[in-house]
Amino acid sequence: MPTAEWFSPLLRPELVELKAYVPAPIPPGAVRLDANESPWALSPEARASLAVVLARLDLHRYPDVRATALREAIAADQGVNPDALVFGCGSDEVIALVLNALSAPRPGASHATALFPTPTFVMYRQTALSLGVRPHGVALDEAFDLALDPLLADLRRLRPNVVFLASPNNPTATLFSHDRLAAVLEASTDTLVMIDEAYAAFSGVRYGDLAARFPHAARLQTLSKVGLAALRVGWAILPPGIAAAVEKVRQPYNLNALSQVAALHCMTTLRPEIDAAVQRITSERARVEPLLRAIDGLSVTPSAANFWWIAVPDDAARVSDAMRVRGVVVRSFHAHGGALTRRLRITVGAPAENDRMLDALRASL
Ligand SMILES: Cc1ncc(COP(=O)(O)O)c(C=O)c1O
Repeated sequence: MPTAEWFSPLLRPELVELKAYVPAPIPPGAVRLDANESPWALSPEARASLAVVLARLDLHRYPDVRATALREAIAADQGVNPDALVFGCGSDEVIALVLNALSAPRPGASHATALFPTPTFVMYRQTALSLGVRPHGVALDEAFDLALDPLLADLRRLRPNVVFLASPNNPTATLFSHDRLAAVLEASTDTLVMIDEAYAAFSGVRYGDLAARFPHAARLQTLSKVGLAALRVGWAILPPGIAAAVEKVRQPYNLNALSQVAALHCMTTLRPEIDAAVQRITSERARVEPLLRAIDGLSVTPSAANFWWIAVPDDAARVSDAMRVRGVVVRSFHAHGGALTRRLRITVGAPAENDRMLDALRASL
């Protein structure tokens, strides 16, 4: 960022530390295993039925501010109060809305803090920084589970406004122990603890029990990982008082009418097809994981998600570049430095894609 520009003094100082998100270009015809998307497109029949419901929309009117029909369907599905839901353009936006609403420093403090384990989903840090909230990471243990002692110590010391815990966690693909999640909740009664269930469809574990037990627990959910990434529909299930506060910082029409209607159709009429695609991903995970383990020199963390977390013998950037040349795009964590320089994250693809990935990986080590 050039410092001599007239607007430089007007920019928020936090922006110096931030980079805009620019995904690496995808070579034509490449197998895309870098973004934890589903490899399965909707069937022609599902597309046709979706076209019918979308065609009924009145595009000259603003969308329903409350996404009422979608809200009621999700609330019924999750067994929660419809007023507990706050929608966003993906759960990315919901993270920003929650941090925005809860960004006041505690009395006597100079800034608010958001705490999360590391490594984890980068948007917690990125979004906190962009909103003037200080991010604080606590390293996971060797099994990529929560390291309870340092976590509880930092919770007491920093008294964060919000804690983010993705389980399964991105990029480690691990499910955090239920006991440790409960211990964090027990130790932080005046902190909002957001349990991010973005990958819960692949672990089969949801945290409604913790949300029911702890009034400061919240859950974050999205349609992005179950085959609907383009819709950009995510939501939080928040304690009702906090949901009402977060609603005040939400732009009224952040969830467009096409996404509302498509999401509802996919979660109801097309639900069997969406669930079957998730099932195919977990079957592929079970088929391919032993084949990955059999490759000499790799360390593969058991996956509870739709991706694998892999340590390669040397530089992950070199391996991912070599795989890209072979037409397979995966995510290297080399740029994060430290222990992550040897780490790759590879999304579970369709069977033929996974076979190509295995060949490319073997040839690239
Ligand atoms: C843990 C986690 N939470 C949330 C998201 C954001 O998903 P979206 O904004 O597409 O709903 C992601 C995306 O990668 C993620 O890994």
